[in-house]
Amino acid sequence: MAKLKIGICGWGNVATGLYEQLTNGNELYSDWEISCIGARRDNPRCNPGSVKILRDIFDVVKEDVDILIELIGGVETARDLISEALNSGKHVVTANKAVIFEHGEELIKLARKNNVRLLFESAVCAGTPTIKMLSNDLSANKISKVAGMLNGTTNFILSNMQEGASYADVLKEAQDNGYAEPDPTLDVNGTDAAHKIGILSALAFNTGLPSPEFYIEGIEEIKSQDFIYAEDFNFTIKHLAVAKLSTGGIELRSHPVMLDINSSLAGLKGVRNGIQFDTDLLGAFHVAGSGAGRESTASGLISDLHALSKSNEVSPMNYPDFSNKPNILNFNDLTFKFYVYLEVKDEPGVLALISKTFADHNISFDKVIQKDQLQNGSVPLVIFTDPTIESEMQIALEGLADHPEVLNSKIIRIEDL
Ligand code: HSE
Repeated sequence: MAKLKIGICGWGNVATGLYEQLTNGNELYSDWEISCIGARRDNPRCNPGSVKILRDIFDVVKEDVDILIELIGGVETARDLISEALNSGKHVVTANKAVIFEHGEELIKLARKNNVRLLFESAVCAGTPTIKMLSNDLSANKISKVAGMLNGTTNFILSNMQEGASYADVLKEAQDNGYAEPDPTLDVNGTDAAHKIGILSALAFNTGLPSPEFYIEGIEEIKSQDFIYAEDFNFTIKHLAVAKLSTGGIELRSHPVMLDINSSLAGLKGVRNGIQFDTDLLGAFHVAGSGAGRESTASGLISDLHALSKSNEVSPMNYPDFSNKPNILNFNDLTFKFYVYLEVKDEPGVLALISKTFADHNISFDKVIQKDQLQNGSVPLVIFTDPTIESEMQIALEGLADHPEVLNSKIIRIEDL
């Protein structure tokens, strides 16, 4: 049997990790051959041996390869490269969630038109099986909710902060370990997880990909102190991306949450990702595993290569019905229980002011705790609320911000899994 010829585009952390895996002598890969690598520059970390190097990544499309693996990252150039490859009759494998989120519909249509495949297992949770599992193995189930910690960098940062490390130090460690995106802003500001939940939402609810105007918030404002207050009430802090079927549409969001410390996802530490799928036949179903890094991503890419090498006739995954446009619910209309942190002046009447403002917006307190005075003389108040409409909470906080007695405020939404 002729060997399956592979062209790799990109020569960074993920691409060199894949190369090292494919050339480690494992006989699982003996039917595959890396024909060429599109690399704008050498990578001192990895010697590609005698493999042909092309300095223009688009030249890989012109080579005699069966599969092009897109690992250049970014959106528009990646879209052009994938399009050219599909139009040239090559299968494409990519780890690029941004390009799938923004142009997935168009690219999958192009793959269909050219009778080739576009696979992207490692775009979500890297090598932890998610995409093909959701599209194939869960296909008998009606899924009502997908809630996941989908960014390895963020979980690495938060779980180390929980143990007392500083945000800046752990972010640097995540970058050194190759977990973070080239621009780590996309990890910490919630965008990377948002791309991933957008893709999962389309697969879970059989719709087109959502437009990016849903609620996205990162972990930049989370402080070590928040973990201490959370733990007092048996919560921990995670970054969660959620897609949930609700009356009239889909709830879609990517933001920090407080989770019950005993919940399935709360115990996942470091670079691990985890997802809970709420289904009709299986009930709550969980996957968890490494969600970033060269080895984990290589695992997902190789699972796509296997799927392609086995199936010439049948598509290795079921794509959603793109004509079914998703109706994303307005975030301001959603209801949450909230953790509210307020720093206030230590003066009479402040608690009354806060109670009245919250009561005016139908916000009822579940618990209120006043903490010890801070060095600047102000007092932290920690409030856990009953279920509250998002817009009411926002208006109440804006109202409080107008009062000089209230120095600072922050909310974290509480998620019941
Ligand atoms: N930067 C991503 C993360 C890589 O930290 O999860 C995997 O998609």
